[in-house]
Amino acid sequence: MVEEDELDVENIDGVGPVTRDKLYAAGIYDIRQLLTLGPVELSELLGVNYDKAVDISNRSRQKLTELGLMGGQFALASDVLKHRMSIERITTGSNNLDNLLGGGIEVEALTEFYGEFGSGKTQICHTLCVTVQLPKEKKGLGAGAVYIDTENTFRPERIVAIAEHREISPDEALKRIFVGKAYNTSHQELLTREISNYIEKEGCKLVIIDSAMTHFRSEFLGRGTLADRQQRLNRYLHTLVRLAEIYHVAVVITNQVQAAPDTFFGDPTRPSGGHIMGHSSTYRIYLRKSGKNRIARIVDSPYHAEADTIFTLTDKGVADPEEGSKR
Ligand SMILES: Nc1ncnc2c1ncn2[C@@H]1O[C@H](COP(=O)(O)OP(=O)(O)OP(=O)(O)O)[C@@H](O)[C@H]1O
Ligand SMILES: [Mg+2]
Repeated sequence: MVEEDELDVENIDGVGPVTRDKLYAAGIYDIRQLLTLGPVELSELLGVNYDKAVDISNRSRQKLTELGLMGGQFALASDVLKHRMSIERITTGSNNLDNLLGGGIEVEALTEFYGEFGSGKTQICHTLCVTVQLPKEKKGLGAGAVYIDTENTFRPERIVAIAEHREISPDEALKRIFVGKAYNTSHQELLTREISNYIEKEGCKLVIIDSAMTHFRSEFLGRGTLADRQQRLNRYLHTLVRLAEIYHVAVVITNQVQAAPDTFFGDPTRPSGGHIMGHSSTYRIYLRKSGKNRIARIVDSPYHAEADTIFTLTDKGVADPEEGSKR
């Protein structure tokens, strides 16, 4: 076990009292917290140049490696495989969807669900907040969840219904979900910086951002500053990726689809956020409505074949379609 003291930012080589105090003043005490910041953010925060910020980041990683909390620069492929085999997963509530994902939602990864309205993104998020609390034998992690709600669609009543069906006390379930309502992009970023506290203190292993893009999209709309938006979104998504890796949690984000009128073949909708979104997410799942059921397709996965599966949305959350039900 690593002592809390050892994770204090003052233990990073080259961090003197001045830098340490600046970090403390910004509410950053822990090396892992520091590492969720990118070099640009770090350089702004500390008022140092980019190279110095990169240097501090590198030394921080080195420290975590020394403490055994992170892998080194290179690892044997066999060790990487061993690590991959041991990665924990959270059930979605549907065996079909779990199988599509190779066993459920992975920790240390960013999983994006995108699709049109009513395709089930928010229902999946609610279900995961409950299933993450299940014990490991029931494909959960026995842990809590942090939920950032940007669309005001978090409904505790749904948590109650989903928990009841899974033999979890609804009262207990509600007490392990920490909900932050984000009013705008800056507020969303601020709340996201707070997440590490909930992971640490409350033992959360799932982070949800429903939806990641709403504010970015509306606030930067028509300002002619698409590049600014992409840059800020890029930074934001990288923060999430680092959060997943450093704290060994699962991060799930949702995203709407945008009409892409220039598409002549195939589905004329695309997830918003452009290429940046695609490059940041480890797994992307495209959801479509199909009558009562939903079709999920995994796209651009580093190791899954592109494949489809069906699931359904019920009062008890995400589930497999009933036997014999058609698409
Ligand atoms: N209590 C319930 N019982 C059964 N099905 C439900 C229940 N609540 C919601 N649903 C299903 O979930 C659908 C809504 O899905 P959800 O809110 O997850 O969509 P979304 O993808 O988040 O959409 P948006 O883009 O608007 O946020 C409803 O149309 C309904 O089919
Ligand atoms: Mg929704």
